[in-house]
Amino acid sequence: MVEIRELSEHVGESVELSGWVETTRVHGKVAFLVLRDGTGIVQSVLVKKQLGEATWDLLGGITQESTVAITGEVRRDERAPGGFELGVEKLDVLAPAPEYPIQPKEHGVEFLLDHRHLWLRSSQQRAGLRVRAEVEQAIHDFYYGRGFVRIDTPILTGAIGEHAGTLFETDYFGQRAFLAQTGQLYVEAACAAFRKVYCFGPTFRAEKSKTRRHLTEFWMVEPEVAFADSDDNMRLQEEFVSYLVERALENCSEELEVLERDTAPLEGIRPPFPRVSYTEAVERLRAGGSDVEWGQDLGAPDEVALSEGHDLPIFVYNYPKTAKAFYMKENPEDPRTVLCNDLLAPEGYGEIIGGSQREDDLERLRARIHEEGLPEEAYDWYLDLRRYGTFPHSGFGLGVERTVAWITGRHHVREFIPFPRLMNRLKP
Ligand code: 4AD
Ligand code: MG
Repeated sequence: MVEIRELSEHVGESVELSGWVETTRVHGKVAFLVLRDGTGIVQSVLVKKQLGEATWDLLGGITQESTVAITGEVRRDERAPGGFELGVEKLDVLAPAPEYPIQPKEHGVEFLLDHRHLWLRSSQQRAGLRVRAEVEQAIHDFYYGRGFVRIDTPILTGAIGEHAGTLFETDYFGQRAFLAQTGQLYVEAACAAFRKVYCFGPTFRAEKSKTRRHLTEFWMVEPEVAFADSDDNMRLQEEFVSYLVERALENCSEELEVLERDTAPLEGIRPPFPRVSYTEAVERLRAGGSDVEWGQDLGAPDEVALSEGHDLPIFVYNYPKTAKAFYMKENPEDPRTVLCNDLLAPEGYGEIIGGSQREDDLERLRARIHEEGLPEEAYDWYLDLRRYGTFPHSGFGLGVERTVAWITGRHHVREFIPFPRLMNRLKP
């Protein structure tokens, strides 16, 4: 059996293909069947005289998404999508399909999400998920190439990683457990074993917000580097994000075309990215008419306003302590702030990365845990990292779906995870 993506190696040969029927069209004694096999699409041509009556009669009953096997000669044809055509010699229907729910017309997004298991087969969805797969591979290649060790962190945990407000809680044999909001605390431990590490996996937030940027289950890559400060951290982020964009441009040009992405804004993404302190950002926003107060976290509209006029992602660094998580290192130059950054993607996509230098002082960290009302017992092991050979270290988390939504230029993150989990959606 041959895959459609390999047809160029089989020109002039007779090959067998298998897949699903996209469309059929009959014109008198000639018919066309567009076959999708998951690796590509090919138009096959059926001629009544050559196929015989019995096979020709099959054609009328072949519906969209029926499973078929086709044998035929591979011909080069510049006009055909993909550049090849199949001259059919033999056609077998392996499985029929009753009327397919997704038709080439406008469907509401709720309908499409209800049929996500089938919607995946559509061209734009295939394109988007291929870009995601390329970005995921690029993530591993980037860190592997730089000598990072991949650490798989637990999904069930007893320690709150970020905020108490968005936890999924479960009963763990009589103990309270949470689905991990982040792998960070664990990569911090592994950092002292391997120096440069990263985790990559699903993370969970019981977000009650129905926005285009929030999922309740999303994938995050979290590098952590020993002896790196907040500046080193931002440098790693800009190199990393530039690499992901470059890989998508290099290996997903067809997919980006299917998604109608204007790639011009992506071509120029390379370091260094502009940096603005939180305090300057608030001044700029206020000068632009916003009523944001120093001390508040920045909202989505603030992020969009800050990115305006920038073709590159921008860093906003050193937020107020009150707006950020307990583990961030106090800024020695202004203890009201912490050494951290968000990275805001251009074109209105907002935050794709949150990162920081970590508090490495035992007493300060313990005090922050108390201030946030977190239970110290759950963090005894985490505090050990500051007891036994503490060290400066920094890291960040990049959300894969938000990054892919930006790279593909699409509106909503839900199309960039195969089976999105949203506040009102657990199925399929
Ligand atoms: O800024 P966040 O909450 O940072 C952390 O979790 C840190 N522990 C990371 C670290 O330093 N190791 O989340 C990081 C990124 C966000 O910038 C965003 O891209 C993504 O994760 N993210 C979400 N993506 C989709 N849906 C949600 N509900 C998300 N929440 C965060
Ligand atoms: Mg954040």
